[in-house]
Amino acid sequence: MARKKKAEEEVRELDEFEELEIIEGENSNSTKSNWKEIKNLEDLPGVGPATAEKLREAGYDTIEAIAVASPLELKEVAGISEGAALKIIQAAREAANIGTFMRADEYMERRRTVGRISTGSKSLDKLIGGGVETQAVTEVFGEFGSGKTQLAHTLAVMVQLPPEEGGLGGSVIWIDTENTFRPERIRQIAEARGLDPDEVLKNIYVARAFNSNHQMLLVEKAEEIIKEKAETERPVKLLVVDSLMAHFRSEYVGRGTLAERQQKLAKHLSDLHRLADLYDIAVFVTNQVQAKPDAFFGDPTRPVGGHILAHSATLRIYLRKGKAGKRVARLIDSPHLPEGEAIFRITEKGVED
Ligand SMILES: Nc1ncnc2c1ncn2[C@@H]1O[C@H](COP(=O)(O)OP(=O)(O)O)[C@@H](O)[C@H]1O
Ligand SMILES: [Mg+2]
Repeated sequence: MARKKKAEEEVRELDEFEELEIIEGENSNSTKSNWKEIKNLEDLPGVGPATAEKLREAGYDTIEAIAVASPLELKEVAGISEGAALKIIQAAREAANIGTFMRADEYMERRRTVGRISTGSKSLDKLIGGGVETQAVTEVFGEFGSGKTQLAHTLAVMVQLPPEEGGLGGSVIWIDTENTFRPERIRQIAEARGLDPDEVLKNIYVARAFNSNHQMLLVEKAEEIIKEKAETERPVKLLVVDSLMAHFRSEYVGRGTLAERQQKLAKHLSDLHRLADLYDIAVFVTNQVQAKPDAFFGDPTRPVGGHILAHSATLRIYLRKGKAGKRVARLIDSPHLPEGEAIFRITEKGVED
């Protein structure tokens, strides 16, 4: 604590020194705003009450939201120049520690704030490093019937448990594209795990997505609920998209439309990442892979949904059916976890060992 105080003092001095520099000339690379106490929108350079009001009205109501905005967006909603918007965003990024370099020990500190949701299976939890992570997008992919939707249902119950029981005491947003969300199944899992099924259902917000545009729009709607619930005792901690690719796949067939599809998909994924980061939420998406007759020879785990999806998820889990009704999960290309497999079952409790 004392060290922090001293550092702050030094920073204040540095601030005064750097103020001079600003007056002397444009220096967009300077780290001046790095150290200012930026808490409210009005603390950002060039943002007065009127601009702050416009930004808030348009939904940019936190420093973090501004930090991940694009200059063009801000220009439009606040009626300011692109240059001014850029300055505001840079200052917000530095204040929010987004999109800038961070020392690895500080990074480690931020990783410590990552929350984990138990899948209901100890062996699967262990495989993925302790549970499904917040501030990340987890993709589960596999054939029809491999258990993707069942795993999502289980997580929607588990996330509501207190941390000591594997949850995060959170609410759930569920974007359903294939009409496979079943409240009855939620009830069953909740009851089997000793929870009040009515209470559990109250904490899940479900929407059917009718096409890919609607699916993307629902992510915007999701943010409204997320903000509303952020300061309550049940903030949203899990966002499910089941399935991520179904609409994109059926709407964009043929080579000509592939580029357009990938572009929209990239935007969709970046929106999801943004919510995960900004609001400390676990985003869990499912992706169906077609069984191929030559799967024995080819690699069944090769990227699906194009490279965009393969490289965008923070963690990818491949599911397949095993012997005697068991399911096998395998981690694909994890940057920090060892390869391996976990075996689990699907029962009335959802997913379990
Ligand atoms: N209430 C239940 N109890 C036990 N197993 C179930 C239950 N509901 C579904 N399952 C199992 O889950 C399988 C479907 O898994 P699902 O998650 O829907 O697959 P997908 O990967 O296509 O989403 C079914 O074949 C069945 O074996
Ligand atoms: Mg499914």
